Amino acid sequence: NGSAGKAGKSRNILEQMDESGKNCVVFYGSQTGTAEDYASRLAKEGSSRFGLKTMTADLEDFDYDNLDQFPEDKVAMFVLATYGEGEPTDNAVEFYEFLGGDDPSFSEKSSGEDEKPLSTLKYVGFGLGNNTYEHYNSMVRNVSKYLDRLGATRIGEAGEGDDGAGTMEEDFLSWKEPMWAALASTMNLEEREAVYEPVYELTERDDLDIEDDTVYLGEPNKNHLEGHSKGPYNAHNPYIAPIASSKEIFNDATRNCLHMEIDISGSGLSYTTGDHIAVWPTNAGKEVDRFMNILALSEKRHSVIAVKGLDATAKVPFPSPTTYDAVVRYHMEICAPVSRQFVAQLAQFSPNDEIKAEMAKIGNDKDVFSHQVAENNFNLAQFLEYMSNGAAWTKIPFSIFIEALHKIQPRYYSISSSSLVQKDKISITAIVESLAKPGAPNVVKGVTTNYLLALKQKQHGDPHPDPHGLNYAIVGPRNKYDGIHVPVHVRHSNFKLPSDPSKPIIMVGPGTGVAPFRGFVQERAQQAREGDDVGRTMLFFGCRNKSEDFLYEDEWKQYTEDMDGKFELVTAFSRDGPEKVYVQHKLKERADEINKLLMQKAYFYVCGDAANMAREVNEILGQIISEKRGVSKQKAEEIVKAMRASNQYQEDVWS
Ligand code: 2AM
Repeated sequence: NGSAGKAGKSRNILEQMDESGKNCVVFYGSQTGTAEDYASRLAKEGSSRFGLKTMTADLEDFDYDNLDQFPEDKVAMFVLATYGEGEPTDNAVEFYEFLGGDDPSFSEKSSGEDEKPLSTLKYVGFGLGNNTYEHYNSMVRNVSKYLDRLGATRIGEAGEGDDGAGTMEEDFLSWKEPMWAALASTMNLEEREAVYEPVYELTERDDLDIEDDTVYLGEPNKNHLEGHSKGPYNAHNPYIAPIASSKEIFNDATRNCLHMEIDISGSGLSYTTGDHIAVWPTNAGKEVDRFMNILALSEKRHSVIAVKGLDATAKVPFPSPTTYDAVVRYHMEICAPVSRQFVAQLAQFSPNDEIKAEMAKIGNDKDVFSHQVAENNFNLAQFLEYMSNGAAWTKIPFSIFIEALHKIQPRYYSISSSSLVQKDKISITAIVESLAKPGAPNVVKGVTTNYLLALKQKQHGDPHPDPHGLNYAIVGPRNKYDGIHVPVHVRHSNFKLPSDPSKPIIMVGPGTGVAPFRGFVQERAQQAREGDDVGRTMLFFGCRNKSEDFLYEDEWKQYTEDMDGKFELVTAFSRDGPEKVYVQHKLKERADEINKLLMQKAYFYVCGDAANMAREVNEILGQIISEKRGVSKQKAEEIVKAMRASNQYQEDVWS
């Protein structure tokens, strides 16, 4: 319909490609930015290796009714993440529905057998999915099917990356080589020695200094810079929330678990029980220093720089003018494991030929990479230190980091309070991920959880506040957040209690998987106190030891009282006895009752680890149903599936 898109730009992709002289568009359907990153990498590589004129495009910024006029000498790439239970990412919903959505007969109906409206469209597809979900990579699979049916020509195989198996990066690398070969042959492209062409231009602004109030020192946007941030607060605009309280809730010398209360009163933010809170992290000072040192940026880390895209389609992922320090500390994921492709790309900027050869070897060989880099869990700066023995790398253009390192992402936590009980305060329950693997160099594993721990230590004037020297900047840019604040926003979820409190519920949440269930039980206890008829409420919780990591032990007793025995906590301590006891074992022990409750339409909830626990719980439930109802395994699996489809079975899981 040609209506104006973002920033008043045309929504006509063909026109935009024509005007900017592009012959390759890389569309992305991305939720958290990963698919967008892969799209940028493809665009970059297409241009540097094959001389393609590439651009990336957010699927929601364009209309698709003119795809049937896509020129034969151009190519479209689709990098598509599958979200949750086989859904398109938010920005791909319209595109997906345009092609046919979840109705498999749609494109058959809309284009008769011989109608091939997309016969001039050449395309390439790569999907990002997670094999622990049933609808694994359904986006790229369905989109390819629709495009093929409409007459488009796919170049190479449609690739599938698997986050569940943790092989996303390798899946991408091994998919793209044959794809490029096929594309080069179809489009008559010649591969050339990759030359790095910067996408961004940095200008050092000697006329400005760090004191200047137009310089961004980590503020996410203009309102924040000017000191009058305002809502709506969302994934582009965090609320700087006061931390009302924080405490340690493990009793374990080697591990921390934080309980925090975040004050959202007056922010306009709201939540309902079962939602997620996003925390915007800051990188540890220790890692920022390491990055600066190894790249010889320390001396100018506070110099003011202006950054702009050299191409109209390249957007700068942070506000400018800014400083190197601010970009590295607040905007780049510098603590993530370094990727093999990036190692290969950086080889050309090595300090000497010997290192260059070594870099090329590591970058081009999966096994060497795995042995020397992945197993050590190196982040970029740690890897560079290792390669050069600590000598500075002075030849790498800064632009390459803006392109290749991911934009830092907010981290989501299941809210562990009830909005009925405390609508203006959000609880977080977070285990601080360990600092270092034994034997490996000192890696900051949990960027955000360690940041939260630093905030807690500051708040309580801990006598040994920073034992690992992580040196987090905990008061925010320009020391503005003094008084202990954290940038947050709320993400609404579908993980919800039944609206009728008298319905029975069964919850399974070992470890911090218990977080949302503390909220659920808090809510039901409150409803009981208010005189509502509250149904049976069972919680299966597992942890290592009764004495160390039994979360909220005292609260559960209170809830049982408040709910007049309707609430029951069933515990599985995995390391207290000679054999491991997990929540699944406890579910089996209570099979009879669980089956009865499910027959009464009890809701069944699982929260926590997706890869093992949630999958195994799903299986056990099938077994329970099969046994107790005397139906075949297959029939029982169908029943479980139907429970999922009707939301009687809900998951809030992570990998
Ligand atoms: P473990 O670490 O002793 O093996 C919270 O992390 C609890 O979940 C711990 O007691 C942990 O036990 C347990 N756990 C680990 N793997 C699990 C699995 N596959 N299913 C259920 N619980 C598991």
